[in-house]
Amino acid sequence: MSQRSCLSVILAAGEGTRMKSAQPKVLHQIAGLPMVAHVVKAAEAAGASGLALVIGHGADEMRKAAAKFAPKAETFEQEKRLGTAHAVIAARAAISRGYDDVLVMFGDTPLIDADALTVARRRLAEGAAVVVIGFRPPNPTGYGRLIEKDGKLTAIREEKDCSEEEKKIGFCNAGMMAVAGAHALKLLDAVGNENAKGEYYLTDIVEIASAQNLDVVATEASFESALGINNRAELAQAEAIWQQRRRHDAMLSGVTLIAPETVFFSHDTEIGADTIVEPNVWFGPGVRIASGAKIHAFSHIEGATIASNCDVGPFARLRPGADLRNKAKVGNFCEVKQAVIEDGAKVNHLTYIGDARVGAGANIGAGTITCNYDGYSKFFTDIGEGAFIGSNSSLVAPVTIGNGGYIASGSVITESVPDDALAFGRARQKTIPGKGKELRERFASAAAAKKKAAGADH
Ligand code: UD1
Ligand code: MG
Repeated sequence: MSQRSCLSVILAAGEGTRMKSAQPKVLHQIAGLPMVAHVVKAAEAAGASGLALVIGHGADEMRKAAAKFAPKAETFEQEKRLGTAHAVIAARAAISRGYDDVLVMFGDTPLIDADALTVARRRLAEGAAVVVIGFRPPNPTGYGRLIEKDGKLTAIREEKDCSEEEKKIGFCNAGMMAVAGAHALKLLDAVGNENAKGEYYLTDIVEIASAQNLDVVATEASFESALGINNRAELAQAEAIWQQRRRHDAMLSGVTLIAPETVFFSHDTEIGADTIVEPNVWFGPGVRIASGAKIHAFSHIEGATIASNCDVGPFARLRPGADLRNKAKVGNFCEVKQAVIEDGAKVNHLTYIGDARVGAGANIGAGTITCNYDGYSKFFTDIGEGAFIGSNSSLVAPVTIGNGGYIASGSVITESVPDDALAFGRARQKTIPGKGKELRERFASAAAAKKKAAGADH
């Protein structure tokens, strides 16, 4: 089958009014990726080398987004939404290039798995002209029903065109189809619009093909993989299913999730074996974690690279560009952005490290802040190997702390500190013996005098 060429035509022209959104429906995200991009991924995983995206509503926004998530895709604009067959025909120029297999997919069915598509393509390779991907939803209302006669698929009847008897059929059209490229355009061009909605239905190619004695078959996919998204409740349902699958895969690949249902992954999270993730952790896009890391509870991590055996959290926030090298530690209530924390360095408590390097083995005391921004530009802080930054220090960038540099607690450091130097950036302490007691007595007698004067007034 691998020698057979394959085009995926992804229908995404619909408005999606039930999302109640200014954004085209298929650009709403699941696991941080537009749902139509999930469909593209599945098509590619099933071997589609050609990608045709049929757009309509929000075409400009769709083109811009597609350039990012599917730069190889061609876009075709369907000017009027006249039905799913009409939409597929919008990609005529791509189909007529002569692919062996044409996979018709829906941009709003993001959980479709590559296996269901591969099974359908296999049936084409065995000689079928049309393969319909069917499924058995808990409630079939609204779906096209698969009409079979003598074990053969003869028609798909849309709900609105079904007889009472046909409405009882539980085996439904998931919407997606695999069509032999040699027949595709001929079948599509034969579709008319004499039905309850006056639309050109893709589903009609089943009846047309069986009338021509072509081989038409149905395969069965899981309900979940055929889930179509029409509103935000269904979007959340798809997100939940996606997360559940991803957690399961992570655990089977050697990652411990103590409370899996509270850990959220992105479409591109990479996480190595023997990593332990405590409850309530959020992975935004662009996170890579090597093996043996510990991610403690309530950490929020995006765009970060975490090397082996790092310790993160609880309550850590790693923002884009955070780069933790082996055995680095970022503890509670710390925020790291665009900064390298080199091997074994510790940023343990209540600290902000942004636009910086923290050298290997350095220790950053509680409450340290890299002051990286003057309201207009960002500046860099370079902290050398083995440096010690005393608690509650402000490092005003641009500034360099040399290797082994030692910063006194409570310092405001505005000038660079050479290797192994000690820097104080605060007023020297002054201690006056007995002065505390004297002050207390003075304040007490002043208060008593005031009270007495107030009493005399009455
Ligand atoms: C379709 C199937 C139905 C199946 C159901 C599964 C047809 C005629 N019916 O119905 O048998 O059970 O999906 O969810 O195919 N689109 C366009 N241009 C158009 C019309 C639709 O791009 O002119 C796109 C939509 O944006 C959507 C997809 O095609 O992504 C499906 O269209 P939709 O209107 O949702 O079809 P259903 O009525 O759900
Ligand atoms: Mg639909």
